[in-house]
Amino acid sequence: MNPNPPFRPHVIAPSILSADFSRLGEEIQEVIRAGADWIHVDVMDGHFVPNITMGPLVVEAVRKIAPNIVIDVHLMIETPERYIEAFAAAGATYISVQWEACTHLHRCLQQIRDLGCKSGVALNPATPPETLAYVLSELDFVLVMSVNPGFGGQAFIPSSLDKIRTVRNMLANQGLDRLIQVDGGVNEKTIGEVAKAGCDVFVAGSAIFGRPPYADTIARLRRNIEEALKP
Ligand code: DX5
Ligand code: ZN
Repeated sequence: MNPNPPFRPHVIAPSILSADFSRLGEEIQEVIRAGADWIHVDVMDGHFVPNITMGPLVVEAVRKIAPNIVIDVHLMIETPERYIEAFAAAGATYISVQWEACTHLHRCLQQIRDLGCKSGVALNPATPPETLAYVLSELDFVLVMSVNPGFGGQAFIPSSLDKIRTVRNMLANQGLDRLIQVDGGVNEKTIGEVAKAGCDVFVAGSAIFGRPPYADTIARLRRNIEEALKP
């Protein structure tokens, strides 16, 4: 075992999909004050997934409210290459595309990086991680979807744990230190197992929004990660 494993951050990324949209600005400020590391923005187009949510204007508004926060844009849309530039211009820091929505995935990832953003690929629960073998060096993070994308508040799919471990091994085999993000059904009950499997970035929507005080909620999530990782 490596005696000096690379430092792995544990990033809490609240998904604003579950926020109260009638007071979105305040909700964002509140979770940031409460210790959120990133803000996760779920973009849905009504085609790739049945739901329709937010576009670049919302990212621009988040950037205005929080000039220094990491904005993590998760594109659950078809032909994402048509919109990447708009999201980068709106202030995205990280942009992920769904593997299933990209015909030219390699080019998409290059496009994201060329625009100065960090690139990610999201894998649906049924998509095998091995499909990333030839693009791993082109990406900054892998997003393991632990629910079928489209809606907040769904139950965590347990086979995602094995997928996280596989992705971690694939990265290690290529000598790559990249972030693994998990999205869907992450809550106080599931977060420990997700951490143990090797996740770095924990997206949580319904486990945070609507559950004030947010500082306590986020602190409990962090405590459960730490407890789970205790030797
Ligand atoms: C699902 C989205 C998630 C969602 C997570 O399609 O990508 O980011 O908001 O919601 P929870 O944490 O409630 O499962
Ligand atoms: Zn998401």
